[in-house]
Amino acid sequence: MLALALLGVSGSSKAAEPCSSSDVGCAIFYGKRAVPAELRDDNRLLPGATTRCVNCHTRTASPDSFAPPLTPGYLFAAASRRGGPASSYDEPAFCRVLREGIDPADVMLRKAMPHYRISDPDCKALWHFLTQP
Ligand code: HEC
Repeated sequence: MLALALLGVSGSSKAAEPCSSSDVGCAIFYGKRAVPAELRDDNRLLPGATTRCVNCHTRTASPDSFAPPLTPGYLFAAASRRGGPASSYDEPAFCRVLREGIDPADVMLRKAMPHYRISDPDCKALWHFLTQP
């Protein structure tokens, strides 16, 4: 019974669109709204399908995730990231890491995380989407 109920739930949520039409942050996360991006030290724009946040990140803590989970708990925690001193994200630090690949403790990220040419309003919407419960 329980298994059937779970199957029913996952079946219907799979069909649902993840974003409401007015949620710009959600549209960016799932790649419905493209943001130009390139790899560090390489000024060629990446193909849009490769730069969707959801390709590499999850919005829930997951041991299978290639890149850190983008949950409020992870972003707001005062944690040592990549061996640096403890730091946490706020909106300016988040927009900086997206644009420059440098975290709040001034540590440079791996090259795998693209650098985004993201506008202030788009970055604000993305931050809002990722940090609202
Ligand atoms: C091609 C894979 C890839 C894509 C696409 C990608 N990221 Fe990342 N991202 C990474 C990796 C890998 C790291 C971890 C880098 C490290 O630890 O050096 C990372 C790190 C981050 C961090 C820093 C987390 C921390 O540990 O401090 C944030 C914030 C982030 N990404 C947000 C985003 C957002 C928002 C998008 C979409 C606009 C995105 N990423 C798209 C691979 C990706």
